[in-house]
Amino acid sequence: MTDLLSIAESVARSAAGLAFERRTEGVEITMTKSTVTDVVTAADADVEQLVLRRIRQLRPDDGILGEEGTSVDGTTGITWVVDPIDGTVNYLYGLDGYAVSIAAVEGPTRVEELRAESWTGLAAAIVAPASGAVYTAAAGKGASLNGQSIRASAADSMASALVATGFGYDPGRRSRQGAAVAQLLPKVRDIRRLGAAALDLAMCGAGRLDAYFEKGIRPWDVAAGLLIAAEAGCVTHIEDAGGELFAAVAAPGIAEELFASLEHIGAAKA
Ligand code: IPD
Ligand code: CA
Repeated sequence: MTDLLSIAESVARSAAGLAFERRTEGVEITMTKSTVTDVVTAADADVEQLVLRRIRQLRPDDGILGEEGTSVDGTTGITWVVDPIDGTVNYLYGLDGYAVSIAAVEGPTRVEELRAESWTGLAAAIVAPASGAVYTAAAGKGASLNGQSIRASAADSMASALVATGFGYDPGRRSRQGAAVAQLLPKVRDIRRLGAAALDLAMCGAGRLDAYFEKGIRPWDVAAGLLIAAEAGCVTHIEDAGGELFAAVAAPGIAEELFASLEHIGAAKA
């Protein structure tokens, strides 16, 4: 496990260094994916290639699943789930909220059979080069931010909770998500849409946010963040909601109340 964690951290640090360097050189959009708002920059692809190369050198028999198209079956039952730049829109606009997210998970050797709802997270690293934040976790060993142990917040009521969420790229989904958030807003301290799911989850682990939820996220958005949040004491939930993932994470003192409220507003159906 220590080995997996040190690999996750060192590869994520190198990848984040490359992403940061590319950002200072200027950002070039190479294509759009699901909709015109879902962009890919040249850096997303280059960073994923760097991660792929490093992991293949260090752990040649493991699988790799990456947002920008990497899908390599392994033989060990360990797969590396990689978001080369989570928060691509922040990256594009020169905002600091972007990060490299890498997790080692245990599950089926065939990547196409791997499911975020059923894999076991083993090790995780999220590195945000613009802020210098390095979040890490290993199963059963706790979570850290820049080497210091982190814990979920002590929030004990929804009314005092700062809740992060995210919106997908599809306009129809966005209008449903907006309607769900509108119902939640009067019941919480405030809502944040920071633009990088991996960092939202890691910040729940660090007690910088009290909760996070989102429908339509992808496995690479949450692989590292869910382990970091869970190891920091958050209550984590992920489910297949009509063929898509719905994730929710909360500080232990508000999880029951918040999850009931998310059910009530239909957040998993948005
Ligand atoms: C996105 C971010 C965003 C979330 C979206 C993700 P990307 O990932 O994590 O916060 O709301 O659902 O797709 O496109 O920046 O890698
Ligand atoms: Ca992402």
